[in-house]
Amino acid sequence: MIDIHCHLNFHSFEKDYEQVIKRAHNAGVTRIINVGTKIDSSEWAVKLAHEFDNLYAIVGVHPHHADKIELSNTWLEELRKIALEKKVIGIGEIGLDYFSYKSNGIVDPALQKEIFSLQIELAHELNLPLQIHNRHAGEDVIKMLKERKNLLQNIPGMFHCFAGTMDVLKDALDLGFYIGFDGNSTYKGLAPGESVSLSEQIAYTPLDRIVTETDSPYLTPLPHRGQRNEPAYVILVGQHIALVKNKPFEQVVEQTTKNVYTVFSRLQ
Ligand code: NI
Repeated sequence: MIDIHCHLNFHSFEKDYEQVIKRAHNAGVTRIINVGTKIDSSEWAVKLAHEFDNLYAIVGVHPHHADKIELSNTWLEELRKIALEKKVIGIGEIGLDYFSYKSNGIVDPALQKEIFSLQIELAHELNLPLQIHNRHAGEDVIKMLKERKNLLQNIPGMFHCFAGTMDVLKDALDLGFYIGFDGNSTYKGLAPGESVSLSEQIAYTPLDRIVTETDSPYLTPLPHRGQRNEPAYVILVGQHIALVKNKPFEQVVEQTTKNVYTVFSRLQ
């Protein structure tokens, strides 16, 4: 299986990322893709990709950090330079986030949109697919993508850690995006602010449009919820998808792996 979105580039893995990578390998995870959320974490994702054969990087600025990036007028230049490094396979996680965080509330939506738009243009310039972050902003994300359809690749990318209404899911699929599901799909009940369960959305999404991820260190699947998440647990996400779709686990592994290579053509 492939973990197409995690953050071994974050502090919580600083001390033991080598063991974490080994455990994932032993569990049958063939590729691990670390994703940047700022310039420094993007650089670190690339550094890890250079250090380990099976690791790759997706680089970008998360909407939640749009207010910090504003302080530097060279961020886009810096990001372009990082994105040109070997083993960078996409631009992400980029998008919109209207969730109010304890640390800095909701970053000015106009600023988020500007940072998102500039990165869509960068991805277009570099022929890289997008990895989209959306939290409580599905309609605006879809609207922005539709308005920039001419900038999207044939297979435009994926929505990471999908959450949102069925309309947003349908629009994302119509635009050609693949859909990433994580360990939170194993949780019972609805997440706050959501109207439809992730399992229902897994059931709706064709298997040939699903990709698997962990978002480690967050969103740890059952039965490990409460502990730090790690890429080895992407297997549990695959098992949950197999259960929901009533398909053999091996078929889910084979198809979702194939899907990742379809979206991210630079992955080897
Ligand atoms: Ni993430």
